[in-house]
Amino acid sequence: MVLSTQQIESWERDGFLVVPDAVEPDRCRELRRRALEIVDEFDASTVSIFSTNEQDRTSDDYFLASGDNISCFFEEGAFRMDGSLVQSKEQSINKLGHAMHDLDPVFDSFSRQPIMAEIAADIGFTDPRLLQSMYIFKQPRIGGEVTCHQDSTFLYTDPMSVVGFWVAVDDATIENGCLWAQPGGHRGPLRKRFVLDDENGTRFDQLDSTPFPEPGSPDLVPIEVRAGTLVLLHGLLPHWSDVNRSERSRHAYTVHLIDGSAHYPDENWLRRGPDLPLRGFERSTVH
Ligand code: FE2
Repeated sequence: MVLSTQQIESWERDGFLVVPDAVEPDRCRELRRRALEIVDEFDASTVSIFSTNEQDRTSDDYFLASGDNISCFFEEGAFRMDGSLVQSKEQSINKLGHAMHDLDPVFDSFSRQPIMAEIAADIGFTDPRLLQSMYIFKQPRIGGEVTCHQDSTFLYTDPMSVVGFWVAVDDATIENGCLWAQPGGHRGPLRKRFVLDDENGTRFDQLDSTPFPEPGSPDLVPIEVRAGTLVLLHGLLPHWSDVNRSERSRHAYTVHLIDGSAHYPDENWLRRGPDLPLRGFERSTVH
């Protein structure tokens, strides 16, 4: 066991758990370097697809195709009408997603560090599958808000099993847009599901009208952590992060796990082709 009985108790009580110093600083630096390299290698000529009149539709298609590849998502307003970037690529990128953990050797090895597998077992996973990875840049001054949500909305299984493994690559503080969460909020209902829709690409199905706590509410607590800290997030836990108003970046990396024994519905947005089945913590030999 990596986690103590006390840590497991707070995980079950709060729906999140902060594990300081879970990841070596060198590994965080290596991941940052690789993420910036991927952005640098990104072909800017494909960027014009975001600036056509069918921007929403095309962005949706790009998003829906990203379950089994490495895609670059940009901040709103990053592009001019002609498709050129307002600022440099590395200052415009919002996140990378959603299969770096299976397609890139640096991300694979980061995501499958022994401590991750041990903690997954400690919190009850018997057949963990690494479903999705995201590298989030939360840029200085422009890194946008992520409104309050539950991850099971986007990564639903029956029974619900998703847990986010969120690693601070930079120190995360209130000033640079750290996570906020509602302790115990994972015992509340799932509010909505994000599903595929033949007509519009995707839609939200409302399941429950219980409101989330508003930003600034005493029900939300800030999760200020140092780089290298792992934060576990239960799929039903309401969480939120503010705009980064500081001069410092707030890079973070998340991997979402589901349990292989749970049903994964066809209407979930994230799909994989037959060439890239979901894997657990065993290392790949095919890079
Ligand atoms: Fe989330």
